[in-house]
Amino acid sequence: MDFKTALTELYLRDPTGTLPNALWKTLAMLDGMETLLDVRGGEVIHLEAKRGRGIYVYWDSNGVPPDIEGLDFVLLHERLARALDLEEFYVERYFRLVHRGETLEAPSLPAGFAFREVDVPAEAREVAEFINLCYEDIHVGSGEVKSWTAGPAFDRSLWLWILDGEEPVALGIADFDRSIGEGSLEWIQVHPSYRGRGLGKALVFELLRRLKDAAFTTVSGQLDNRTNPEALYRRCGFEGNDVWLVLRRRE
Ligand SMILES: CC(C)(COP(=O)(O)OP(=O)(O)OC[C@H]1O[C@@H](n2cnc3c(N)ncnc32)[C@H](O)[C@@H]1OP(=O)(O)O)[C@@H](O)C(=O)NCCC(=O)NCCS
Repeated sequence: MDFKTALTELYLRDPTGTLPNALWKTLAMLDGMETLLDVRGGEVIHLEAKRGRGIYVYWDSNGVPPDIEGLDFVLLHERLARALDLEEFYVERYFRLVHRGETLEAPSLPAGFAFREVDVPAEAREVAEFINLCYEDIHVGSGEVKSWTAGPAFDRSLWLWILDGEEPVALGIADFDRSIGEGSLEWIQVHPSYRGRGLGKALVFELLRRLKDAAFTTVSGQLDNRTNPEALYRRCGFEGNDVWLVLRRRE
Protein backbone atom coordinates (compact mmCIF):
# COMPACT_ATOMS: atom_id res chain seq x y z
CA MET A 1 0.00 0.00 0.00
CA ASP A 2 1.42 3.44 -0.86
CA PHE A 3 1.10 6.58 1.28
CA LYS A 4 -1.71 8.21 -0.71
CA THR A 5 -3.78 5.00 -0.73
CA ALA A 6 -3.31 4.55 3.02
CA LEU A 7 -4.23 8.18 3.76
CA THR A 8 -7.30 7.99 1.50
CA GLU A 9 -8.45 4.78 3.21
CA LEU A 10 -8.17 6.35 6.68
CA TYR A 11 -9.81 9.54 5.48
CA LEU A 12 -12.84 7.76 4.01
CA ARG A 13 -13.30 5.89 7.30
CA ASP A 14 -13.08 9.07 9.42
CA PRO A 15 -12.61 12.32 7.43
CA THR A 16 -12.73 14.80 10.29
CA GLY A 17 -10.50 12.70 12.58
CA THR A 18 -7.83 12.10 9.92
CA LEU A 19 -7.13 15.53 8.39
CA PRO A 20 -7.92 19.17 9.27
CA ASN A 21 -8.92 19.94 5.64
CA ALA A 22 -10.42 18.34 2.52
CA LEU A 23 -8.38 15.32 1.37
CA TRP A 24 -7.54 16.72 -2.08
CA LYS A 25 -5.69 19.66 -0.53
CA THR A 26 -3.32 17.39 1.39
CA LEU A 27 -2.84 15.03 -1.57
CA ALA A 28 -1.93 18.05 -3.72
CA MET A 29 0.89 19.11 -1.39
CA LEU A 30 2.45 15.70 -0.71
CA ASP A 31 4.86 15.77 -3.64
CA GLY A 32 8.28 16.72 -2.32
CA MET A 33 7.41 15.77 1.27
CA GLU A 34 9.15 13.10 3.30
CA THR A 35 6.52 10.44 4.07
CA LEU A 36 6.53 7.63 6.64
CA LEU A 37 4.07 4.75 6.51
CA ASP A 38 3.73 1.70 8.75
CA VAL A 39 1.19 -0.93 7.69
CA ARG A 40 0.86 -4.27 9.49
CA GLY A 41 -1.48 -7.04 8.40
CA GLY A 42 -3.19 -4.62 6.01
CA GLU A 43 -3.92 -2.13 8.85
CA VAL A 44 -2.37 1.34 8.87
CA ILE A 45 -0.48 1.80 12.15
CA HIS A 46 1.33 5.06 11.54
CA LEU A 47 1.38 7.77 8.89
CA GLU A 48 3.39 10.97 8.76
CA ALA A 49 4.32 13.62 6.14
CA LYS A 50 7.01 16.19 6.87
CA ARG A 51 8.77 19.02 5.09
CA GLY A 52 11.68 20.90 6.62
CA ARG A 53 10.78 21.72 10.22
CA GLY A 54 7.06 21.06 9.74
CA ILE A 55 4.66 18.12 10.14
CA TYR A 56 1.67 18.31 7.78
CA VAL A 57 0.12 14.86 8.25
CA TYR A 58 0.30 12.85 11.46
CA TRP A 59 -1.78 9.82 12.36
CA ASP A 60 -1.01 7.04 14.85
CA SER A 61 -3.32 4.13 15.69
CA ASN A 62 -1.95 3.90 19.25
CA GLY A 63 -2.31 7.61 19.97
CA VAL A 64 1.46 8.15 20.23
CA PRO A 65 2.12 11.91 19.76
CA PRO A 66 4.91 13.26 17.53
CA ASP A 67 8.23 14.50 18.84
CA ILE A 68 7.81 18.26 18.30
CA GLU A 69 11.24 19.30 19.55
CA GLY A 70 12.97 21.38 16.88
CA LEU A 71 9.79 21.78 14.80
CA ASP A 72 8.38 25.17 13.78
CA PHE A 73 4.99 24.07 12.41
CA VAL A 74 2.68 21.14 13.28
CA LEU A 75 -0.88 20.21 12.26
CA LEU A 76 -2.23 17.89 14.93
CA HIS A 77 -5.50 16.45 16.19
CA GLU A 78 -6.19 17.71 19.72
CA ARG A 79 -6.35 14.14 21.14
CA LEU A 80 -2.67 13.66 20.18
CA ALA A 81 -1.58 16.95 21.74
CA ARG A 82 -2.79 16.27 25.30
CA ALA A 83 0.53 14.93 26.55
CA LEU A 84 2.61 17.61 24.80
CA ASP A 85 4.05 20.76 26.32
CA LEU A 86 2.92 23.48 23.91
CA GLU A 87 4.33 26.46 25.78
CA GLU A 88 6.76 27.32 22.97
CA PHE A 89 4.01 27.42 20.35
CA TYR A 90 1.20 29.71 19.28
CA VAL A 91 -1.88 27.47 19.17
CA GLU A 92 -4.88 28.00 16.89
CA ARG A 93 -7.86 25.64 17.41
CA TYR A 94 -10.24 24.62 14.62
CA PHE A 95 -13.53 22.69 14.81
CA ARG A 96 -14.05 20.18 12.03
CA LEU A 97 -17.49 18.76 11.24
CA VAL A 98 -19.14 16.45 8.71
CA HIS A 99 -22.60 16.35 7.10
CA ARG A 100 -23.83 12.97 5.85
CA GLY A 101 -26.72 14.25 3.79
CA GLU A 102 -29.47 13.96 6.39
CA THR A 103 -31.29 16.99 7.93
CA LEU A 104 -31.65 18.92 4.71
CA GLU A 105 -34.11 21.78 4.99
CA ALA A 106 -35.22 23.64 1.88
CA PRO A 107 -33.22 26.88 1.69
CA SER A 108 -35.51 29.83 2.36
CA LEU A 109 -34.66 33.44 1.62
CA PRO A 110 -36.54 36.52 2.86
CA ALA A 111 -38.58 38.38 0.20
CA GLY A 112 -36.42 40.53 -2.10
CA PHE A 113 -33.35 38.27 -1.75
CA ALA A 114 -32.10 35.86 -4.43
CA PHE A 115 -29.24 33.45 -5.14
CA ARG A 116 -26.96 34.13 -8.11
CA GLU A 117 -23.90 32.12 -9.19
CA VAL A 118 -20.64 34.08 -8.99
CA ASP A 119 -19.16 34.87 -12.39
CA VAL A 120 -15.59 33.66 -11.81
CA PRO A 121 -12.93 34.61 -12.66
CA ALA A 122 -14.54 37.91 -13.84
CA GLU A 123 -15.81 38.70 -10.32
CA ALA A 124 -12.62 37.66 -8.48
CA ARG A 125 -12.05 41.22 -7.23
CA GLU A 126 -15.62 41.53 -5.87
CA VAL A 127 -15.23 38.13 -4.15
CA ALA A 128 -11.93 39.19 -2.51
CA GLU A 129 -13.37 42.53 -1.38
CA PHE A 130 -16.46 40.87 0.07
CA ILE A 131 -14.42 38.30 2.02
CA ASN A 132 -12.12 41.03 3.40
CA LEU A 133 -15.14 43.02 4.55
CA CYS A 134 -16.55 40.06 6.49
CA TYR A 135 -13.49 39.12 8.61
CA GLU A 136 -11.35 41.21 10.94
CA ASP A 137 -8.16 39.24 10.37
CA ILE A 138 -8.28 37.91 6.80
CA HIS A 139 -7.00 39.63 3.70
CA VAL A 140 -7.17 37.86 0.34
CA GLY A 141 -6.30 39.25 -3.08
CA SER A 142 -8.09 38.67 -6.38
CA GLY A 143 -5.12 36.59 -7.64
CA GLU A 144 -5.60 34.23 -4.73
CA VAL A 145 -9.34 33.98 -5.41
CA LYS A 146 -8.61 33.11 -9.08
CA SER A 147 -6.20 30.38 -7.93
CA TRP A 148 -9.08 28.63 -6.10
CA THR A 149 -10.78 28.09 -9.47
CA ALA A 150 -7.78 26.06 -10.68
CA GLY A 151 -8.09 23.31 -8.02
CA PRO A 152 -9.33 19.82 -8.97
CA ALA A 153 -12.44 20.25 -6.80
CA PHE A 154 -13.55 23.57 -8.33
CA ASP A 155 -17.21 23.63 -9.40
CA ARG A 156 -18.70 26.84 -10.77
CA SER A 157 -22.19 26.01 -9.48
CA LEU A 158 -20.84 26.02 -5.89
CA TRP A 159 -19.86 29.72 -5.88
CA LEU A 160 -22.96 31.63 -4.80
CA TRP A 161 -23.96 35.18 -3.98
CA ILE A 162 -27.09 36.12 -2.08
CA LEU A 163 -28.32 39.42 -3.52
CA ASP A 164 -30.55 41.99 -1.83
CA GLY A 165 -31.96 43.48 -5.03
CA GLU A 166 -28.72 43.97 -6.99
CA GLU A 167 -26.44 44.16 -3.94
CA PRO A 168 -24.33 41.12 -2.85
CA VAL A 169 -24.95 40.59 0.88
CA ALA A 170 -23.67 37.03 1.40
CA LEU A 171 -21.21 34.72 -0.33
CA GLY A 172 -20.66 30.97 -0.14
CA ILE A 173 -17.97 28.90 -1.84
CA ALA A 174 -17.82 25.10 -1.76
CA ASP A 175 -15.70 22.43 -3.48
CA PHE A 176 -16.63 18.99 -4.77
CA ASP A 177 -13.94 16.32 -5.06
CA ARG A 178 -15.61 13.78 -7.36
CA SER A 179 -12.79 11.24 -6.94
CA ILE A 180 -13.96 10.38 -3.39
CA GLY A 181 -17.36 12.14 -3.33
CA GLU A 182 -16.32 14.79 -0.80
CA GLY A 183 -18.06 18.14 -0.69
CA SER A 184 -16.42 20.85 1.41
CA LEU A 185 -17.68 24.24 2.46
CA GLU A 186 -14.70 26.56 1.98
CA TRP A 187 -15.98 30.12 2.51
CA ILE A 188 -19.29 31.12 4.14
CA GLN A 189 -19.84 34.78 5.03
CA VAL A 190 -22.67 37.26 5.45
CA HIS A 191 -22.30 41.05 5.31
CA PRO A 192 -22.03 42.33 8.94
CA SER A 193 -25.26 44.33 8.72
CA TYR A 194 -27.25 41.35 7.36
CA ARG A 195 -26.31 38.78 10.02
CA GLY A 196 -28.85 36.99 12.25
CA ARG A 197 -31.59 36.95 9.56
CA GLY A 198 -31.16 33.41 8.28
CA LEU A 199 -28.98 34.19 5.23
CA GLY A 200 -26.07 32.04 6.48
CA LYS A 201 -28.45 29.13 6.99
CA ALA A 202 -30.00 29.59 3.52
CA LEU A 203 -26.53 29.65 1.94
CA VAL A 204 -25.40 26.46 3.69
CA PHE A 205 -28.64 24.59 2.84
CA GLU A 206 -28.48 25.73 -0.80
CA LEU A 207 -24.84 24.57 -1.13
CA LEU A 208 -25.74 21.22 0.49
CA ARG A 209 -28.65 20.89 -1.95
CA ARG A 210 -26.25 21.49 -4.84
CA LEU A 211 -23.89 18.91 -3.28
CA LYS A 212 -26.60 16.22 -3.31
CA ASP A 213 -24.28 13.79 -5.15
CA ALA A 214 -21.60 14.07 -2.44
CA ALA A 215 -21.17 11.06 -0.12
CA PHE A 216 -20.35 13.52 2.67
CA THR A 217 -19.52 17.21 3.15
CA THR A 218 -16.93 18.64 5.53
CA VAL A 219 -16.38 22.07 7.03
CA SER A 220 -13.92 23.62 9.46
CA GLY A 221 -13.43 26.98 11.12
CA GLN A 222 -11.60 28.71 13.88
CA LEU A 223 -13.06 28.03 17.35
CA ASP A 224 -12.01 31.49 18.44
CA ASN A 225 -14.55 33.29 16.18
CA ARG A 226 -16.96 35.78 17.76
CA THR A 227 -19.62 35.07 15.14
CA ASN A 228 -19.69 31.37 16.19
CA PRO A 229 -19.95 29.68 12.76
CA GLU A 230 -19.89 26.27 14.47
CA ALA A 231 -23.43 26.96 15.78
CA LEU A 232 -24.61 27.73 12.24
CA TYR A 233 -23.14 24.49 10.82
CA ARG A 234 -24.56 22.36 13.65
CA ARG A 235 -27.94 24.04 13.09
CA CYS A 236 -27.67 22.87 9.45
CA GLY A 237 -26.98 19.23 10.39
CA PHE A 238 -23.17 19.06 10.61
CA GLU A 239 -21.87 16.76 13.36
CA GLY A 240 -18.72 15.68 15.15
CA ASN A 241 -16.35 16.58 17.95
CA ASP A 242 -12.97 16.76 16.24
CA VAL A 243 -10.71 19.69 17.05
CA TRP A 244 -7.48 20.37 15.17
CA LEU A 245 -4.52 22.42 16.32
CA VAL A 246 -2.20 24.53 14.20
CA LEU A 247 1.04 24.96 16.15
CA ARG A 248 3.55 27.66 15.20
CA ARG A 249 6.74 28.05 17.22
CA ARG A 250 7.00 31.42 18.98
CA GLU A 251 9.84 33.63 17.75
C1 LIG B 1 -21.19 32.82 10.75
C2 LIG B 1 -22.11 33.63 9.81
C3 LIG B 1 -21.89 33.15 8.37
C4 LIG B 1 -23.57 33.35 10.24
O1 LIG B 1 -24.44 33.98 9.30
P1 LIG B 1 -25.88 34.51 9.72
O2 LIG B 1 -26.60 34.89 8.48
O3 LIG B 1 -25.76 35.53 10.79
O4 LIG B 1 -26.52 33.17 10.35
P2 LIG B 1 -28.08 32.84 10.37
O5 LIG B 1 -28.86 34.07 10.72
O6 LIG B 1 -28.44 32.12 9.13
O7 LIG B 1 -28.12 31.82 11.59
C5 LIG B 1 -28.47 30.47 11.41
C6 LIG B 1 -28.38 29.70 12.68
O8 LIG B 1 -27.04 29.70 13.17
C7 LIG B 1 -27.02 30.01 14.55
N1 LIG B 1 -26.14 31.16 14.72
C8 LIG B 1 -25.71 32.05 13.80
N2 LIG B 1 -24.86 32.94 14.34
C9 LIG B 1 -24.76 32.62 15.65
C10 LIG B 1 -24.03 33.17 16.75
N3 LIG B 1 -23.22 34.23 16.60
N4 LIG B 1 -24.17 32.57 17.94
C11 LIG B 1 -24.97 31.50 18.12
N5 LIG B 1 -25.69 30.94 17.10
C12 LIG B 1 -25.57 31.49 15.89
C13 LIG B 1 -28.42 30.27 15.01
O9 LIG B 1 -28.76 29.16 15.81
C14 LIG B 1 -29.26 30.29 13.78
O10 LIG B 1 -30.26 29.34 13.86
P3 LIG B 1 -31.82 29.77 14.03
O11 LIG B 1 -32.14 30.62 12.82
O12 LIG B 1 -32.53 28.49 14.04
O13 LIG B 1 -31.86 30.52 15.31
C15 LIG B 1 -21.84 35.17 9.92
O14 LIG B 1 -21.88 35.55 11.28
C16 LIG B 1 -20.53 35.61 9.33
O15 LIG B 1 -20.47 35.96 8.16
N6 LIG B 1 -19.44 35.61 10.14
C17 LIG B 1 -18.13 36.11 9.67
C18 LIG B 1 -17.51 35.19 8.66
C19 LIG B 1 -17.25 33.81 9.23
O16 LIG B 1 -16.68 33.68 10.30
N7 LIG B 1 -17.64 32.76 8.47
C20 LIG B 1 -17.47 31.37 8.89
C21 LIG B 1 -16.10 30.88 8.60
S1 LIG B 1 -15.92 29.18 9.10
